[in-house]
Amino acid sequence: MKRIAIVGLQWGDEGKGKMTDVLANKADIIVRYQGGDNAGHTVKFDTYTYDLHILPSGVIHPHVTSILGPGMVINLETFFHEKKPFLNASIKVSNRAHLILPFHKTLDAKKEETQHIGTTKKGIGPTYSDKINRQGLRVASLLNKTRFIDEANALASLHHIEFDAKQYYETYEKEIKALIPNIIDVSKFIDEAVNKDQHILFEGAQGVMLDISHGTYPYVTSSSPSVSGIPAQVGMAPWLLEGALGIVKAYSTRVGEGPFPTEIHDTLAHNIREVAHEYGVTTGRPRRIGYLDLVSLKHAVRVSGITHIAVTLLDVISEMDVIQVCTQYQLDGQSIDEVPAHIEDLSRVKPVYEALPSFKDDISKITTYAHLPKAAKDYVEYIAEALGVDIAYVAVGPKREQTIEVKNIWEVTGD
Ligand code: IMP
Repeated sequence: MKRIAIVGLQWGDEGKGKMTDVLANKADIIVRYQGGDNAGHTVKFDTYTYDLHILPSGVIHPHVTSILGPGMVINLETFFHEKKPFLNASIKVSNRAHLILPFHKTLDAKKEETQHIGTTKKGIGPTYSDKINRQGLRVASLLNKTRFIDEANALASLHHIEFDAKQYYETYEKEIKALIPNIIDVSKFIDEAVNKDQHILFEGAQGVMLDISHGTYPYVTSSSPSVSGIPAQVGMAPWLLEGALGIVKAYSTRVGEGPFPTEIHDTLAHNIREVAHEYGVTTGRPRRIGYLDLVSLKHAVRVSGITHIAVTLLDVISEMDVIQVCTQYQLDGQSIDEVPAHIEDLSRVKPVYEALPSFKDDISKITTYAHLPKAAKDYVEYIAEALGVDIAYVAVGPKREQTIEVKNIWEVTGD
C-alpha cells in the first residue's frame, strides 16, 4: 500500500503519534488532515521525548515532508514555536488551512463557562465555526500584510473583541516571510506525489468518537478525524486511499466531559492512570479510564473503513486481574449493539461485559508476537476478530523500539 491513513478509534490518545513515527521510516510525505494544537502526540526514541501538538509526528525524520493540511486550524504561535528545533525539516502548510487567532481562544474559554464540553481551550471550535460561517481567515491571508490586517480586524469586530491585527502580524512577520515559500496548494502537491508513486501517510488527531458527525455529539471536537473525512479535507479522490490503520488502546480513555459507558471508578482506574501516565499531553488533565468498548469500536471501524489495527499499551493490561470487554449495551431493557445518536440515550446505556483471562507478565521487553503470553495474544486476536480487521502492530511500551510488527502495513498488497 502506498497511501495509508492512521486514525484513533476511541477518544484520542491511543498512541497515534508513536505509530506514525514507526511508519514514517517508509513514508515520503506525512499529512496532518484535521484539528489543530488541541492534539498532543508523544514520540519517544532513545533518550528523546517529543510532545508535538501541531506538527505531524513524522517531522523528526529528516527524509519526510510534513504537511499541515487544508482541514487543519493553525495557531501561528504554537506552529512557529514547535518547528524551531526542526531546522532542516521540510514542513509545508496548506494555503487553505484556517488560522486560529488569539481571540478564538478567548471565545472558546467563554463558551466553556456555559457549555462545559471540557475543550482544550485552544480556540478550535470558534475557528471552525468561523470557517463554516464563511468568515474565517485562511493561511493564504498571510501572503499580503494589508489584506491580513483588514480581514483580521473585521473578524474581531464581528466578535466584538478588541484586537490589534497589525501588532499581531508584526510579532510573527519574520517567521511569516520565511514560511511563505512553503505555503502550498496541498491538493496539487498530493496529486503530484501520487503521480510519482510516493508513500503518503495521513495522520489524524483526536479519535473517531470525537468526530463532529460520528462521535459522541456534542461532546466532540469540531473536525472529522474519521478516515472518510480525509479526501474532502485534503482535496483528493477517496479511492486513492488504499488502507486505514486504526489505533486501538488496549483499554479506553477519555479527557473532558461526555458519556463514557465503560468508565472504571475504582482503584484500577487510578493504577492504570499512574502506570500508563494517562494525563493529557496538551492540558495535563487526568484522563478518565475505562474497559475496552467493542460497541463503540465497531462503530469507529465502520465509519472509518479500517483495514488493519495497531493495539497499543498492551503492557498496561497486566494491571487487570480479569480483562473486561464491553460487547453490548443495555438500553431501556433492550440489548443494543450500536452507539445511540442522542447523548441522553448514550449516557443511560449500561455496558454488558465478557470476561477474558488476563496476564501478569512484564511484556514490555518482548519483541516478537510469538513470544507474547498466550492470554495477551488471545486478547489481541479477540479484538481483531470482533472488529473484522487484521492485526498489523502491537505496542508494549511507549518507545519506538517497543512496537511489535505483525504485518508491515506498507507491504500489504490489495488482494
Ligand atoms: P476541543 O477539540 O479543544 O474543542 O475539545 C473538544 C473535546 O475533544 C474535549 O473533550 C477535549 O478533551 C477533546 N480533545 C481534543 N483534542 C484531544 C486530544 O488530542 N486527545 C484527547 N481528547 C481531545
